[in-house]
Amino acid sequence: MKYCILMGSPRKSGNTSKLLKPFTEELELHKIKYDLIWLYDKHIEPCIACRNCQKDWTIFGCRYSDDMQEIFDKICDCDVIILATPIYSWYCTPPMKSMLDRLVYGMNKYYGDEKGPSLWKGKKLAIITTCGYRPEKGADLFEEGIKRYCKHSQLKYIGMLAERDPGYKSTFITDDKIEHSKLFAQQLISL
Ligand SMILES: Cc1cc2nc3c(=O)[nH]c(=O)nc-3n(C[C@H](O)[C@H](O)[C@H](O)COP(=O)(O)O)c2cc1C
Repeated sequence: MKYCILMGSPRKSGNTSKLLKPFTEELELHKIKYDLIWLYDKHIEPCIACRNCQKDWTIFGCRYSDDMQEIFDKICDCDVIILATPIYSWYCTPPMKSMLDRLVYGMNKYYGDEKGPSLWKGKKLAIITTCGYRPEKGADLFEEGIKRYCKHSQLKYIGMLAERDPGYKSTFITDDKIEHSKLFAQQLISL
């Protein structure tokens, strides 16, 4: 089992990063390999719907030569995808949204003259997120969007860890949140 963690927070020592840490420590404890990609460090152009990626069903095939090919390769090499992101305006942050758009076309060869395969069919996907509202009101729309994204892409959605940020004047990370993150990792590992 190999994990690919796609990190959408702009803050290296922010809340999402603090919530992710016990999760990756748990993976390490179980000797599970993972790649951690900080999306704000990458050059990710938005999709322009040119459909170049639909010509060859065996490759990513995007006409842009930015960092998406590397991300595509890392995802192809993993079994479990983790989307880690703070919630911005009820969804993920901009580089993650650009990445999701590039992948929904580049991975799913559904948009040419004939319907082709999903190149990431059967991989598992989970969310780790933090938000200002209670998760039921802050992370619900993102989770729903990602559930549909998974169904469309033939990925297996395996759950979400969402924790509330009580505000800039409070400490985000608590023993409870650390425990939730470890338990979430154990839960995913047991699947
Ligand atoms: C531009 C911006 C937009 C945000 N939008 C939302 C939102 O729609 N819903 C919500 O619950 N929290 C929202 N938040 C709060 C963040 O999700 C929350 O503070 C998060 O824990 C930040 O994570 P980070 O420290 O990893 O950046 C927003 C924060 C920012 C900066």
